[in-house]
Amino acid sequence: MADTVLSTNALPTTAGLDVAAIRRDFPILSTVNRLGKPLVYLDSAATSLKPLPVIEAVDAYNREYSSNIHRGIYEIAEKATGLYEAARASVAKLINAPEPNEIVFVRNATEAINLVANTWGRKHIGRGDTIVLTEMEHHANLVPWQLLVQEKDGDLEFVPITDDGVLMLDVYEALLHLRPKLVAFTHMSNMLGTINPVRELTEMAHAAGALVLIDGAQAAPHMPVDVQEIGADFYAFSGHKMLAPTGSGALWARRSLLEAMPPFMAGGDMIREVHLRRSEWNEIPWKFEAGTPDISAEIGLGAAAEYLMKIGMDNVRAHEHAMAAYALEKLREIPGIELYGPSADQRGGVVAFNLPGIHPHDVAQILDRSGICVRAGHHCTMPLHERFDISATARASFNVYSIPEEVDALTAGLREVVRIFAV
Ligand SMILES: Cc1ncc(COP(=O)(O)O)c(C=O)c1O
Repeated sequence: MADTVLSTNALPTTAGLDVAAIRRDFPILSTVNRLGKPLVYLDSAATSLKPLPVIEAVDAYNREYSSNIHRGIYEIAEKATGLYEAARASVAKLINAPEPNEIVFVRNATEAINLVANTWGRKHIGRGDTIVLTEMEHHANLVPWQLLVQEKDGDLEFVPITDDGVLMLDVYEALLHLRPKLVAFTHMSNMLGTINPVRELTEMAHAAGALVLIDGAQAAPHMPVDVQEIGADFYAFSGHKMLAPTGSGALWARRSLLEAMPPFMAGGDMIREVHLRRSEWNEIPWKFEAGTPDISAEIGLGAAAEYLMKIGMDNVRAHEHAMAAYALEKLREIPGIELYGPSADQRGGVVAFNLPGIHPHDVAQILDRSGICVRAGHHCTMPLHERFDISATARASFNVYSIPEEVDALTAGLREVVRIFAV
């Protein structure tokens, strides 16, 4: 491999995608580290890189029309409001939401889930009520529900997973006999990569009378998502994992649910009328967007949604599936490596692993010398790591700009790690 910029042979299975052209849209991919090594970014599940159309959209806001939204009656403020609301329409289109006003802009998936727990949850969950989660949830889709049931004296139940990292649907079915009020699960696991059968899980939950929240943080950036087809009630995701700036994200929920939910944060912009002792709330979604939002970040999220739709989410999914399959094949060749999660057909572009007797932090540190970025730790899924009786893993994760040469660099780096630890 050259020590400058990685070459860009597209995978044979992703003929529909010009990955070389896509990589040129990401300025950071032509940078090198302190030792002159090109960036091998394999940590997209933590946060994605940002393409030029997103960078330029944010820059244009700051340079050309920096102003507040929904207030100013002058040209640049009207432009800011127009582009902020246009971003909402782009995000709605990306996930096929019935209408843009069912998209609430939030800072990230964590905030979206906390919003639901603190509004719908506090109103509807009471003493003895059950919420069903799974063992593979990110802390963002676990801790808010812990707080809620502690406050309300409710219960949490968990769908267990198999050794291959797949949900046990027979246990799920049995848990639904408890008549939970809510079922909340991730669309795709950020550690195992497992893609859950969200439509089937949703249908089963609805048949048992529960509402469904889906944590789409790892799915919305990587595959076609159609909230109407899935049929869920709430869908949460972060912008920064889908090529958009940090500070952007969205919660989708049905209009009827959003209208019936009390506000989350209170203050400016979320009200229609304020009197000294009472107020009336704004229409949705603004009822949930108190104070000045991260305007340029959400405009950037709109640009990211448009960028992804131009590539085509089917193409993104096909590319990342091929990347995961290639990574699994190559990593399996390393003696003693422990790989977690299901086969490539059931997973997205995430591969967590351990090398025998070597802590993942050491793995990540040595790889860093070669410009290779992987995540090491519990990835905010401590209970899931406990399930496998481990405290940490190293994780490589992919995005639409990832290339097989980066997997080759990773496997070469891991062989080097093994060599260093063998002496
Ligand atoms: C599955 C999943 N859910 C939720 C989150 C939380 O995302 P954020 O930190 O952007 O709120 C993450 C982040 O890694 C995730 O992977």
